[in-house]
Amino acid sequence: MSDAFSTLLRGNSADFINLLNAARFVAITDATVLILGESGTGKELLARAMHQHSQRAHQPLITVNCAAIPENLAESELFGHRKGAFTGATEHQPGRIQAADQGTVFLDEIGELPLSIQAKLLRFLETGECQVIGQNTTTKVNTRLIAATHRDLYADMQSGVFRQDLYYRLNIVPLELPPLRQRVEDIELLLSQFTQQFTAQHHLPAPTFSGATLKILRHYSWQGNVRELRNFCERMVIFHSGKLIEPTHLPREFNQSLAAASVKFVLPDAGIHLETVEQQLMQQALEKTKGNRSQAARLLGLTRDALSYRMKKFSGSSMS
Ligand SMILES: Nc1ncnc2c1ncn2[C@@H]1O[C@H](COP(=O)(O)OP(=O)(O)OP(=O)(O)O)[C@@H](O)[C@H]1O
Ligand SMILES: [Mg+2]
Repeated sequence: MSDAFSTLLRGNSADFINLLNAARFVAITDATVLILGESGTGKELLARAMHQHSQRAHQPLITVNCAAIPENLAESELFGHRKGAFTGATEHQPGRIQAADQGTVFLDEIGELPLSIQAKLLRFLETGECQVIGQNTTTKVNTRLIAATHRDLYADMQSGVFRQDLYYRLNIVPLELPPLRQRVEDIELLLSQFTQQFTAQHHLPAPTFSGATLKILRHYSWQGNVRELRNFCERMVIFHSGKLIEPTHLPREFNQSLAAASVKFVLPDAGIHLETVEQQLMQQALEKTKGNRSQAARLLGLTRDALSYRMKKFSGSSMS
């Protein structure tokens, strides 16, 4: 099936496919959506795909980066102002929510929205009404909201920087993009896509990645997620076009991963009991990561599912 999702967002891992399917389902409704995920996981791309897949596709998609507007301008940016409403308001200015009428407004980094504006946003979500600054009457609009954040909004709500009522109103349909390190299967797919793309763009012969290099890339933590992988591919295409990329060609940040991939265990003459060693290593990985299964799995070079499966295998013994 080829649609906005499959053309914009690449990935074959089960978690990712499930997320896209949920997003397809919600896209065609007018429901407010909250997209969550670490930096570089594709939140903005997902918002765009959802708009393109919706009935509103031919209407505007207007993006507002809440982190980039100063607090004193945020209200006017979202809801607009009348001429003379405040010093400096020399012209009538429509707000972005109104400008996106019939279409979609994408509020990126919604966790950065000042508390003072959050109540107004909630009111818009509940009534569809916008209050232009300096105007007594409200204006009704038909704008769909998609919001995104890399922050832990639940924690922000608990610490009082994000309104509880707005949090629950936004959280009706949360869509969480998994970090790249949790979808190891997608690393190679994206690697080959981006490498092809940059090879064509820069008119250079493609580099190839050795098996040892691929192993390191699979172990690497990719804190910057897909964006980091994309930038990495461009760098490799430019500096190593037409060559076989070996671990020694990798940038410094891959060193730790390189060490992990090249660790050599020496089998004692007396032999070992493999299952006991496996169990002990899993126990240590879970202790090191305070029980976080995804992080523990990464330390062991496993997917989270594979670790859970092995833990189940040992359940009943000392594994928790
Ligand atoms: N699944 C994917 N397939 C192809 N490209 C992707 C995918 N996910 C992300 N990208 C690319 O990675 C980069 C980062 O994506 P995007 O800007 O959507 O991330 P983000 O989650 O909004 O990041 P941030 O929190 O830093 O704003 C973009 O170049 C985007 O095109
Ligand atoms: Mg973004």
